[in-house]
Amino acid sequence: MRNRDAELVEKLLNLKKRRKAVILAHNYQMGEVQDIADFVGDSLGLSQNAAQTDAAVIVFCGVHFMAETASILCPDKVVLLPDMNAGCPMANMITAEKLREKKREVPAATVVCYINSTAEVKAESDVCCTSANAVKVIESLDAREILFIPDQYLGHYISTKTGKKMSLWPGFCPTHVKIQAEHIIQLRKEYPQAKVAVHPECRSEVIALADEVLSTGGICRYARRSEVREMIVGTEIGIIHRLRKENPGKKFIPVSEQAICPNMKLITMEKVLWSLEEMKPEVKVAEEIRLRAKAAVDKMLIIGRG
Ligand code: 13P
Ligand code: SF4
Repeated sequence: MRNRDAELVEKLLNLKKRRKAVILAHNYQMGEVQDIADFVGDSLGLSQNAAQTDAAVIVFCGVHFMAETASILCPDKVVLLPDMNAGCPMANMITAEKLREKKREVPAATVVCYINSTAEVKAESDVCCTSANAVKVIESLDAREILFIPDQYLGHYISTKTGKKMSLWPGFCPTHVKIQAEHIIQLRKEYPQAKVAVHPECRSEVIALADEVLSTGGICRYARRSEVREMIVGTEIGIIHRLRKENPGKKFIPVSEQAICPNMKLITMEKVLWSLEEMKPEVKVAEEIRLRAKAAVDKMLIIGRG
């Protein structure tokens, strides 16, 4: 580590202690940010961690909906997002107003909402899910009709896994659609021993070629298994840092170097320090929205425990 970075990290860690803060980072964050975090994980792990922490301040190194979920679960804590521009384009592909319109068309449908959505959209939904528990959540529902929002690819994948017919909102992740089936076919020829693990936000034809379809946390757990020596990784490339750090000696090949989420990369060590110094920008969900959104998130967490 360079001297300047070492100084910055020391300053940051001291300030974190004084503020009684915890730093949570998503698996797609830049390596330097993952390395200063108290916990690095997927959306489910991060929300569970936020719900359980006794810290007074949560510095959320991820995108806006993730910080909002922390605020939904912990209204008494200060939730900081070091760059307010870090949004999720998929989450913005549906609004509460558009969802209300759709619900009028299918009034009997149970609305299952991917956690990659705004608090207002969660507030209009019956239950949330993440990529780690989506199959379990859908299987637990005794619903004749399901409307799944906003990710069409995750929705399609779950419907093939559960056999449940679902109406799918036509949203998608602009980063994951860059991962193409041809890339995997080519890499399988180059690395015939490698396992292929992809995220369920990938296109259906990419998912069809994978050995495993997993959340980012699931990909990290799978990589630790002894039979995995080489892995072709179909998700955002930030995860490669954690995979290599936790599994020295194993080989990780990203399917596409273009699979970068520019929003995740907006968070830097400098911005984390600034955010802790200034105690801003804060993400706070209005109470009326928060209570309705929390009901959908809580339902998901309860199903996960069962
Ligand atoms: P995970 O919950 O699997 O970490 O995914 C979050 C995400 O935004 C994927 O693009
Ligand atoms: Fe949203 Fe895709 Fe970025 Fe995940 S990778 S935060 S789904 S834009």
